[in-house]
Amino acid sequence: MAIGIYISKVLAIATVVMTVSSIGGIITMMIVYETERIKMNPTPPPTPNATILYPTGPPPNLRLPGNLIPERYELVLQPRLYTFVNNATNQSLIFTGNSTVYFRCVEKTKTIFLHSKQNVTDVTVKDLDNKKTINVKNTILYNNESNFLEIRLEGVLEEDGNYSLFTAFEGELLDDLAGFYMSSYKKEPSTKDDTTQMQPTDARKVFPCFDEPAMKAEFKVTIIHRFGTHALANEKATGEKPISFYCHTRPKVTRFQTTKKMSTYLLAFTVSDFHSIVSKHERVEIKTYARPEAIKAGHAKYAADITGNILAFYESKEVFGMIYPLSKLDQIALPDFSAGAMENWGLVTYRETALLYEEGVSSTSNKEWIATVIAHELAHQWFGNLVTMKWWNDLWLNEGFATYISYMGVDHIEPKWNIKDLIVLNDIQTVFQVDSLASSHPLSSNEDDVQTPSDITELFDSITYSKGAAVLRMLSDYLKDRVFMDGVKKYLQAFQYSNVVHKDLWEYLQKVKDDTVVLPVAEVMATWTMQMGYPVITINTTTGDVSQEHFLLIQPSDYNYTWHVPIKVMKEGLAPTALPTQVLAVPKERKSAFKSEDGKWVLANINCMGYFRVNYDPANWDRLIHLIYSQEIPLINRGQLIDDAFNLARAKHINVTLALRTTKYLRNDTEYIPWESALRNLDYFILMFDRSEVYGPMQVNCFFSHNHLIFPLCKYNQINAISVACSNDIEDCQKMAKKLFDNWMTNNTSNPIQPNLKATIYCQAIAAGGEKEWEFAWGKFQNTTTASEKDKLRFALSCTRKIWLLNRYLEYTLNPDKIRKMDAISTINYIARNVAGQAIAWNFVRAHWNYISLEYGGGIMSFGRLIEGVTQRFSTDFELQELRQFQSDYNEEELGSASRALEQAIERTQANIKWVKENKQTVLEWFRKESSESS
Ligand SMILES: *[C@@H]1O[C@H](CO)[C@@H](O)[C@H](O)[C@H]1NC(C)=O
Ligand SMILES: *[C@@H]1O[C@H](CO)[C@@H](O)[C@H](O)[C@H]1NC(C)=O
Ligand SMILES: *[C@@H]1O[C@H](CO)[C@@H](O)[C@H](O)[C@H]1NC(C)=O
Ligand SMILES: *[C@@H]1O[C@H](CO)[C@@H](O)[C@H](O)[C@H]1NC(C)=O
Ligand SMILES: *[C@@H]1O[C@H](CO)[C@@H](O)[C@H](O)[C@H]1NC(C)=O
Ligand SMILES: *[C@@H]1O[C@H](CO)[C@@H](O)[C@H](O)[C@H]1NC(C)=O
Ligand SMILES: [Zn+2]
Repeated sequence: MAIGIYISKVLAIATVVMTVSSIGGIITMMIVYETERIKMNPTPPPTPNATILYPTGPPPNLRLPGNLIPERYELVLQPRLYTFVNNATNQSLIFTGNSTVYFRCVEKTKTIFLHSKQNVTDVTVKDLDNKKTINVKNTILYNNESNFLEIRLEGVLEEDGNYSLFTAFEGELLDDLAGFYMSSYKKEPSTKDDTTQMQPTDARKVFPCFDEPAMKAEFKVTIIHRFGTHALANEKATGEKPISFYCHTRPKVTRFQTTKKMSTYLLAFTVSDFHSIVSKHERVEIKTYARPEAIKAGHAKYAADITGNILAFYESKEVFGMIYPLSKLDQIALPDFSAGAMENWGLVTYRETALLYEEGVSSTSNKEWIATVIAHELAHQWFGNLVTMKWWNDLWLNEGFATYISYMGVDHIEPKWNIKDLIVLNDIQTVFQVDSLASSHPLSSNEDDVQTPSDITELFDSITYSKGAAVLRMLSDYLKDRVFMDGVKKYLQAFQYSNVVHKDLWEYLQKVKDDTVVLPVAEVMATWTMQMGYPVITINTTTGDVSQEHFLLIQPSDYNYTWHVPIKVMKEGLAPTALPTQVLAVPKERKSAFKSEDGKWVLANINCMGYFRVNYDPANWDRLIHLIYSQEIPLINRGQLIDDAFNLARAKHINVTLALRTTKYLRNDTEYIPWESALRNLDYFILMFDRSEVYGPMQVNCFFSHNHLIFPLCKYNQINAISVACSNDIEDCQKMAKKLFDNWMTNNTSNPIQPNLKATIYCQAIAAGGEKEWEFAWGKFQNTTTASEKDKLRFALSCTRKIWLLNRYLEYTLNPDKIRKMDAISTINYIARNVAGQAIAWNFVRAHWNYISLEYGGGIMSFGRLIEGVTQRFSTDFELQELRQFQSDYNEEELGSASRALEQAIERTQANIKWVKENKQTVLEWFRKESSESS
């Protein structure tokens, strides 16, 4: 699944979208079913006594016993909407269906364990070999995180016997984001001013199944749906026909071809009246679906244009060298979707912002995001769908790989973007932050440590995605990209339609014959995946001494970690490739490659290929700082030197003034990467000091601040310059923003603002303005149907300096009629980001915690990011005390997937307190001195 950099990231989700008519217009309903991932373990759990259920004690094991192996499901689903959707808070939906699962018994048993979240209305077990029915004694639905449905039989299931289990189910969809959820919105309102979005009503529903990724099976799906709608599933439909002409609702039946062998978490169905456009591909039928108006307006065109191309590229020898195994590929943009996208095999689901592009309205960064998400999800069609992890503890390999490969996919279709360089900003520098905390965690987890659904949810974090991508990129470069991809191809061939653990990949990479590199891949990679964090490599260029240690913001490390570190080095006057890759696999050694000759500079970690930071002796830092903006230093390293310097200063390896000095030459540079690296680091200064007297001299000085929404592909500096200048209260700039915005307000219909500048201009105009500007933007927000435009406005609304507006906006976030549930948490974070909103956002989150965790918690992992967002600025003892109080007010269960984020927030706050104490005076003086020099 793809998770936005700042967009929510979520779990495995199958989706049902359906459209129904009702009073007051057409309502499109969507149901999203999130599979619970409970696991598969070779050791069977003790069968509980009839009267004793797990809730009375800790569950001994949340994994299925593994004694029954599903082979094929026949699934019939019929979503029925039976209420009028005229009362947003009180609607209900019924979902009925039945399923027959054919399975083999590999170990004699009298009970069937499988997963279900609701009672079954009918159960029949058949012995297929002897053609008889086995009576069911009783069924027990476990009321705990296991989600087990236990079926006790009067007879015995014999080893090697073939059986079938029929279940019928019916359930009301409840209001809980963790399960199935349904959301509705009014389409094309008949009256002009009717802009109401119907409140999403969340609901859950699951069909009973062996819901573990290793329990692969074939699925034959049938969907009964309303006349005038069409159904999609993982495979092609074999035909549809009405079942009755007399029935009022005139349902249709759509049957689908049996799928390939696949995991349950990749199943998806949609029922909608969406339209589609076709992509070119020589063999696969590719269609992109969206709301009919969006298709008509051409918003899916960009996605459709690139999808066939990326798919063909992945099929080519250059990448997987293997055809896409299904005959069709659908992708669909959903108005409500909590993840960025989900890679369901043959039916990929997206947020609208991840699929729909409107020329002239969406920005370049919206386009970049769309290409990236599509490239990510398509990579999963092989890596994840065809070859699947055995259990969720290896999720990082799936997500890290898809994240890494997506840069290749995007580069193939948009070579001018130089997207591959941006992995350093988007993934590596970002995850370096989290991974420099002692409360970080290793990439690999033990199978046994990942048990409950919230254990699994917690894995969907930046370590899994971004560090996963970073270490695979390092390995690929170390082995040579060709060798790496050869190994990947052979691995996919060998394990297609089955399951793997990460060591299987190491073994296949190891096997690739190559004359030059023979690496113990598993051993090398163990140092990166089993140990948390990353090293800082310290080089003394006087002697050539080089050493490694665990890099932590708060020293020292409790661990004696040593990594196997491949280091690419470059020296003044030598070509970047002149020196072979150096390997440091011990804590410390001396190598001439790192020694400076005649006072010439030495640069390590070329293009930031390695997942580590580099520190030098002061003399070498001096040589490099003077060159940061020259072409002599590779572009990526110009950014990385800045990022390393600032972070080494935060961890007290070097002086903060050395870090600040790296930015002095910025005005001479026109490239995005160095600017963005500097701005992000200076952002930290803003967060730490925008409530203190340091902020004055800091503002006078430079280029500060930017907003996190902007990641455009070109004209970076134009945007940076505007947002930087504006947020420094430079009058002209704010005037300009206000004027453009005023024009728009008077004009109302045509928006004169250039798409790439919108987020910045809106934000600045609203910050400088009052209620009038806010209300205008709010009106536009409610009216626009372009998702990317909505996101920009939603962000900009958080920029007001008026406390009462911010407070009201916070209240809106918990009203799904105003802010969709999927957007609530990021909106609160935007408000917290505003210095005027910081304190009220934190108070708001604390005051509404119970409600937020109940309504917005569950499977949605953006929860952790809520904590991260609202505590970003924390840097006082009082704030630390508040955090600790908050932590002690709730138990582990109530905090759910936010508990790790809370630990990290506490650690980060401690580091901030220390840093501010130690550096405030120095920073203040530096900025005072600089501003007096420059004025
Ligand atoms: C559960 O079953 C076991 C084995 O049949 C038996 O020893 C034990 O007493 C039972 N416990 C209860 C509470 O019935
Ligand atoms: C919806 O129904 C509930 C329960 O009947 C009621 O409390 C609520 O006021 C109704 N809401 C609206 C907007 O009519
Ligand atoms: C399964 O459900 C469908 C649709 O409700 C129904 O037509 C069919 O008869 C059911 N199958 C069985 C075996 O009950
Ligand atoms: C399942 O049925 C039992 C017995 O009728 C009931 O007590 C329980 O609440 C039901 N569980 C659910 C989730 O509907
Ligand atoms: C770490 O290494 C040092 C020096 O080699 C040694 O004294 C210390 O005991 C080690 N600590 C741990 C936890 O292994
Ligand atoms: C580098 O090594 C030289 C020679 O041993 C030593 O004098 C100097 O202090 C070292 N520099 C650093 C920063 O450790
Ligand atoms: Zn993914």
